[in-house]
Amino acid sequence: MNEAVRNLSIPENWDRRGLPGWCYHSEALLDLERDHVFRAHWQIACHVSDIPEPGDYLTLDIVGERALILRDRDGAVRALHNICRHRGSRLVTEPTGHCSNALVCPFHGWVYNLDGTLRGAARPKSFPPLDKTEFGLKPIEAEVWMGFVFIRFRKGPQPDVASLMQPFAAELGAYQPETFVPTGGVWTQETPVNWKSVRDVDNEGYHVAMAHPALQDLYGSTYYDEPFVNGLCRSYATYNPHAGRRWSVRNYVHLAPPATHLPEGLQRAWVYFGLFPNAVIATTPELVQFYQEFPLSTGHTLLRGAIYRRNDEDRRTRVARYLAARIDRDTQAEDVQLTVWSNEAMTAKAFEGFYLSDLEYGVRTHHDHLRAVLPVMALDEAPEERDLAALNASLSATR
Ligand code: FES
Ligand SMILES: [Fe+2]
Repeated sequence: MNEAVRNLSIPENWDRRGLPGWCYHSEALLDLERDHVFRAHWQIACHVSDIPEPGDYLTLDIVGERALILRDRDGAVRALHNICRHRGSRLVTEPTGHCSNALVCPFHGWVYNLDGTLRGAARPKSFPPLDKTEFGLKPIEAEVWMGFVFIRFRKGPQPDVASLMQPFAAELGAYQPETFVPTGGVWTQETPVNWKSVRDVDNEGYHVAMAHPALQDLYGSTYYDEPFVNGLCRSYATYNPHAGRRWSVRNYVHLAPPATHLPEGLQRAWVYFGLFPNAVIATTPELVQFYQEFPLSTGHTLLRGAIYRRNDEDRRTRVARYLAARIDRDTQAEDVQLTVWSNEAMTAKAFEGFYLSDLEYGVRTHHDHLRAVLPVMALDEAPEERDLAALNASLSATR
């Protein structure tokens, strides 16, 4: 249990405003966010079970980068840039697949080993000698933690993943997520909002009673959010004693077998483990999932995630998992609508910004984390786009 976070009380007279509207549609700010917020922080790529066999791979194109997650011949999980060293073509073009023992570039046919080293160029005599490592696929820093594959495009303020996530290790570890297997692969969806509008909605449960009838039925007022501290936040809810006004919830709580493999506090609970800047690992007694968002432009975002199940799942658990995922899917669709309505206001002259409840302190602490990375976000008025990067650099230097 993450006691350090749980015990953190909300300060008196905290600033109830959120980020100003300009932060949700500035192109110059998005350039900085791509680099300092996304490339410089750990991102969840997948789970080791998504690439179980040597030669299995998965790709993700995010914030201008192309990552290839690959299981090497020796069984190791590697992350490489999916960028040919000749002229930059993709090596593999599909979101997932298998390559038996080499990666062959579809442009001119350079061949790479599964560890990323160059095996050889096509018509090699037309080049000077090529060093196999120097012309190998560039590696991406990667770390496997509890079965999840994390990648980072460049060093940033966070430590290694195990140190970073340590406050979650005991509670999340109780599920043994490293033993879980995929249910349907990685899903993606585009949504017409700034990425922060997605996170703003996900970072508070104040809206659950109004906007998520199934969650309200399932766990209602037991839900609480802990704020972001050192890049982590956590939300927890346990089932209402009389849950079941809606059929999906009623069937879920009645059909789910007792989760005696879990500690008591997790047997009838849904838990959300948040990781700055953009990801959540969420658990129910039947499943573990991750979800995240990546900016495509100031006004478009890629939602991405995957659900995993126990490898020894019995029939009742399978039905319960299906129902849990269904409740979660309905909730997500409701959230997508909320993000659109909130994000639309950011360009309205009349909108004066958020005025947050104590129950939305998680939104504020996420914004505080963002301002710590990019101090220019503390400015109420939008700076000139062409000055923004330099202004941010000088604000960073004077802190
Ligand atoms: S770009 Fe890959 S072989 Fe030419
Ligand atoms: Fe929500």
